[in-house]
Amino acid sequence: MSAASARQGSGPAHEREALLRWLRWQAEMGADEALAPVPVNRLKTATPQTAIPQAATPRRQPAPPLRPAASAPAASLAPAAAPPAPPAPAADGPSPQDCHSLHDIHAALDAMHHFPLRRMARHTVFTDGNAQSRILLVGEAPGRDEDLHGKPFVGRAGQLLDRMLAAIGLDRAAEDPDRAVLITNVLFWRPPGNRKPTDAELSFCAPWLMRAMELVRPRVIVCLGGTPTQRLTANPAGILRQRGKWTNISVPGLAEPVPLLPMLHPAYLLRQPAQKRLAWRDLLALRLFLDEQATAP
Ligand code: URA
Repeated sequence: MSAASARQGSGPAHEREALLRWLRWQAEMGADEALAPVPVNRLKTATPQTAIPQAATPRRQPAPPLRPAASAPAASLAPAAAPPAPPAPAADGPSPQDCHSLHDIHAALDAMHHFPLRRMARHTVFTDGNAQSRILLVGEAPGRDEDLHGKPFVGRAGQLLDRMLAAIGLDRAAEDPDRAVLITNVLFWRPPGNRKPTDAELSFCAPWLMRAMELVRPRVIVCLGGTPTQRLTANPAGILRQRGKWTNISVPGLAEPVPLLPMLHPAYLLRQPAQKRLAWRDLLALRLFLDEQATAP
């Protein structure tokens, strides 16, 4: 071995170290798992993200009331829900309005192989829970566990969510629709490395989420975390400002505005357990709302 190569390092141990450094760098960049045993060149056929139009920046709304008021104006979903022109190959697939069940929507989403996130995902993660329930929970996006299992909120955050729901007598698997919930996300595929969804990705999913809401006709929507809250209320204020404050949103196709309660995301609560007291307040507000509805004439 020359003096120079001894200084730079060579041989199997050096190569192993170099490979490990390279893998660590990949993981830090978000490529934290192998998607398939054989590599696929996705760049060759990928539709550039820029092909999906950006949604307009949501306008700031006045602070919402503390409780849902029948007369409160509904937040307009226009900025978030304006259907973007989908990438070209979607033209021959069904539109949201062609779908007449959650199953139809799931199948249409699952076939969207022209959409970059769909191509990278193992599963399309659409809904879980009781499809008859009209208590709709909306999270951000699937993570690794959800992508593996094809269902929203099945990882650690999902387990905490189940415990939170149980504390107020709700259970996603309950047969009774009044005790059950239906869970979905504003994005239906895992963003690589669990990065934040882009506006373009959220705009792409918005018309499908709106159609799902039109079919489910939720009597209450609970947003988990800032991303779904900002998207559905069209209010850019952070979740710590919006949580616990009821607002109404209008859903295309539904005659009545739907009450919406923003709550802290369970993944945030896992990182900041002291904030669970705020989540508890919001859960109690949800329970009170459901009880009042159940006894309303
Ligand atoms: N976090 C989310 O927002 N959604 C999921 O489905 C899982 C974790």
